[in-house]
Amino acid sequence: MHPSGALYWPSQFSLLVADLHFEKGSSYHKTGQFLPPYDTHQTLEKLETVIKYFKPRRIFFLGDTFHDMSAWKRMPDVNKSRLLNAVENLEAIWIEGNHDQGGVPDRFKSLEKIEVDGITLRHIMQRSFLGPEISAHFHPAGVIKFGGMRVRRPCFIKSDQKFVMPSFGVLTGGLDFSNEAFEEFHKCETQLFFLGRRKIFRSSERYLKNKKVGRG
Ligand SMILES: [Fe+2]
Repeated sequence: MHPSGALYWPSQFSLLVADLHFEKGSSYHKTGQFLPPYDTHQTLEKLETVIKYFKPRRIFFLGDTFHDMSAWKRMPDVNKSRLLNAVENLEAIWIEGNHDQGGVPDRFKSLEKIEVDGITLRHIMQRSFLGPEISAHFHPAGVIKFGGMRVRRPCFIKSDQKFVMPSFGVLTGGLDFSNEAFEEFHKCETQLFFLGRRKIFRSSERYLKNKKVGRG
């Protein structure tokens, strides 16, 4: 797990990133909310950095890579080129999310899910699915209290069979781990891994107890 929110899978030489939500900023213009439209540029910068760092052979985009179906068309040419250049020498696998079904760059196809070495990768976790699964979609985050301060950070969630990725996009917000969407993780052995600036921090036992996580 990398503090950027990416996941590297050494035995597969693969990098996984989720919920980049490219062109989210520009999508707000339609509704009259004028947010600075630089999120795509910043997310691309993050992506280029982790690809350079891990030098993967494959990259899996775990869905909601684009904020909406016309995001790829709306993306400025310079950013389209940056994205295509970043994945040029890799096998790029685009899993579709609820925001971007089929809305991937012209020469690519998106998949609903894929199985890699016995692990299913998909955008939204399937609660009834019993096998090992890596998913995304919820943009998990949690609040840690430390020395009188409250720090809210995105996190990875890991239980026995399920692994949920944080969002990689810079303008994506987060859903608190205490939310009922994560109910099943409140009932089982769960570990949270928070994104620090330079490293990953594993949740303490006390944090999990306060969140009613664990066997008790
Ligand atoms: Fe999603």
